[in-house]
Amino acid sequence: MTPVLHDNHGRPISYARLAVTDRCNLRCFYCMPEEGIRYLPKKELLTFEEIERLVAILAGLGIHKIRITGGEPFVRTDLMDLIRKISRIEGIQSLHLTTNGVLTAPHIPELKALGVRSVNLSLDTLDRTRFQVITRRDEFDATWRTLMQLLEAGIEVKINAVVMEGKNTEDILPFVELTRTMPLHIRFIEEMPFNGEGSHYPRLNWTYRAILEYIQSQYRLEKLPDEPHSTAYTYRVPGFVGDVGVIAAFSRTFCGTCNRIRVTAQGMLKTCLYDDGVLDLKSLLRSGIPDDQIRMELGKAFRQRPKDGFEAERKRTKVVTESMSTIGG
Ligand code: GTP
Ligand code: 5AD
Ligand code: SF4
Repeated sequence: MTPVLHDNHGRPISYARLAVTDRCNLRCFYCMPEEGIRYLPKKELLTFEEIERLVAILAGLGIHKIRITGGEPFVRTDLMDLIRKISRIEGIQSLHLTTNGVLTAPHIPELKALGVRSVNLSLDTLDRTRFQVITRRDEFDATWRTLMQLLEAGIEVKINAVVMEGKNTEDILPFVELTRTMPLHIRFIEEMPFNGEGSHYPRLNWTYRAILEYIQSQYRLEKLPDEPHSTAYTYRVPGFVGDVGVIAAFSRTFCGTCNRIRVTAQGMLKTCLYDDGVLDLKSLLRSGIPDDQIRMELGKAFRQRPKDGFEAERKRTKVVTESMSTIGG
């Protein structure tokens, strides 16, 4: 197995998140303004061939976990072709998806056959009306169908629920209740200011601590061991089959074990979610230089990572206003 590279802070880099499109079929309040964002022209996106080449290059640097994100990945035409290609690349040990579930259900049998072990489903509420308010679309049923079919297929599901003041805090306890009988991982996420317009609140009230305290006012929680490099702190209500976690995405408490890089839909490398892009991979891939040279440039960028999301934010040249759908979550 290819040895994993370590960054300048001694953290292994073993996980790449690839955004395959900046488009989305929902308009979630915390991710995009109602009118949407200005989408990239198609030629600005990495092609499937370029992504395939890039993943092979990354595998040669010891990256063995790939997550496909967007936008909404299934909005990209023929996404399954790409997933098939990536699943065959030597060195890639696990392949994951983060999706809103609207278009996902018909692909579940093939995802299973290709060895996709877990899918992270963005679902912020269990109520159809609130779903429509948050996402500005009426697609709750489609997402719920996907959830049910993933579980039936035996694919592990993590539900990502961004907690938003005045929007879905009444869903927190019903989500916890779901884990009584369903083998789900529910993850409550702090809202970050990546909504295409800047911060929604002067300060974040629903921090991961506040979310945990709120749950603990109704349920006893026992701590579970977290997966290595996990973004979530995981708990279980004793006797429940599923578990619940909190992701301190804004408080950024897990940077010390961060093992991930990102590639945006337009092929920009981000070595931290909060940086504004550190290497233009698309230009490198299109410049005619050999893989080894690209690998060298990537290695250089890995050795200049900010120590945490706060340092990355300080080093930005632009204030945070971009949409999560261009970053890939
Ligand atoms: P696993 O691979 O299953 O552990 O999932 P993940 O948490 O890496 O990925 P997912 O796409 O499900 O992201 C869940 C939430 O965590 C989203 O809101 C992400 O934006 C946030 N998140 C993921 N990675 C990072 C990160 O490196 N830094 C911060 N601050 N937030 C992150
Ligand atoms: N703050 C926190 N999480 C966000 N996501 C999208 N936008 C934001 C935001 N502004 C989450 C989605 C998705 C994941 C990739 O990122 O819930 O599940
Ligand atoms: Fe990693 Fe940056 Fe996220 Fe921290 S904020 S976990 S350093 S990507």
